Amino acid sequence: MYVSGIGKTKFGILNASLPELAYGAMAKAVEDSGIDAEKIEAIYIGNFLGGSFQNQLHLNSIVASLLPKNKIPIVRMESACASGGAALHYALEGMHKFENVLVLGIEKMSDASTSNAAKYIGAAGDRILDQAEGLIFPANYALIAGQHMLKYGTTSNDLALVALKNHENANFNENAHFYGKKVNLEMIENSPMVCSPLRLYDCSPISDGAAALVISRERKSARDVEIIASAFATDTISLAQRNDATTFDAAKRAAESAYKEAGISAKDVDFAEVHDCFTIAEMVAMEDLGFCKKGESKGLIRSGATKLNAELPINASGGLKASGHPIGATGVSQICEIAIQLRGEAEKRQIKGANIGLAHNVGGIGGSCAVHILRGK
Ligand code: COA
Repeated sequence: MYVSGIGKTKFGILNASLPELAYGAMAKAVEDSGIDAEKIEAIYIGNFLGGSFQNQLHLNSIVASLLPKNKIPIVRMESACASGGAALHYALEGMHKFENVLVLGIEKMSDASTSNAAKYIGAAGDRILDQAEGLIFPANYALIAGQHMLKYGTTSNDLALVALKNHENANFNENAHFYGKKVNLEMIENSPMVCSPLRLYDCSPISDGAAALVISRERKSARDVEIIASAFATDTISLAQRNDATTFDAAKRAAESAYKEAGISAKDVDFAEVHDCFTIAEMVAMEDLGFCKKGESKGLIRSGATKLNAELPINASGGLKASGHPIGATGVSQICEIAIQLRGEAEKRQIKGANIGLAHNVGGIGGSCAVHILRGK
């Protein structure tokens, strides 16, 4: 299967409705693919919280209203923050029936207060074990960071280096939520505490945005990028149900299955877009994906190995941290970034010689995970 078209809106605080965001991303993806819009045979939508943030569900029908001539099957998928990755995975599973489909990821979050946003996002955690205990998302990931620090000697400075790298990368990405924001280590390390040890700059922001992909069964142009593996795995919903808070078993299983399908190992990956909803999540991702041994991600962060054009660039787009995290759009946006890199169209953030890119999209506190691997030429 091939990514034959990509399209994104800007990510950030946007004055645009869900239908406007959807149309913006889809129209760009179809135009980019060069395929006639009427040749799209199905649409898969990743969206987490249209109901809570916008009182708008039935997004498949919203999208159908945008395409009055196309009477095609459209479905919405929800897997918390992995909704976009899930939509792509199940779109690929259905490709035996279709030549071309579209995958849309979308979320509109910024109309809500921060406290309401925290409550709505908290729905990805268990109602009794997490929500009733006040474990909103920054608190869950703060528990993970605390454990990682105790077990492996990770420090707040390591987390700050992740944030700095991702903000630096986002300044090469015009669509990023924090594009143009000058950030330094001092600002990060002195930013307000959200939930100890996580500060403001350890968190992804509350963003609006949409991203879309046209997926085709046949390669139609030299710009098409091949999807060589797609895996999806699930796990228990709460950290309270896990033996080890410093690793996501669903991510490990999804990665293992994706490497097997692609016939590669972690060391063959040239670059990755990983789910850094909080800075600690990027470090856990590097370990779960096998880029280093458990507890050793700090070594790669401290040496600068994950910066642009270093040994293993991670989150060249700016990641969720600085490119933004309109939740349902994130998994699809990661694939857009990998395709841009593999086509050689990433301009100032272009990773030289990149041929194999991996996308890692986590739902909730590791309760679900999609891993996709793409190849250039
Ligand atoms: N990183 C860096 N700066 C941020 C930021 C972030 N994550 N979020 C907001 N800011 C900046 C804003 O741009 C603004 O800057 P300005 O004063 O220069 O304009 C300032 O901080 C205040 O913004 P505001 O929106 O009032 O922040 P807030 O305190 O209400 O919310 C968080 C900050 C971190 C609590 C909120 O972004 C949040 O809840 N993030 C996590 C979202 C989440 O859980 N997603 C799912 C993950 S799985």
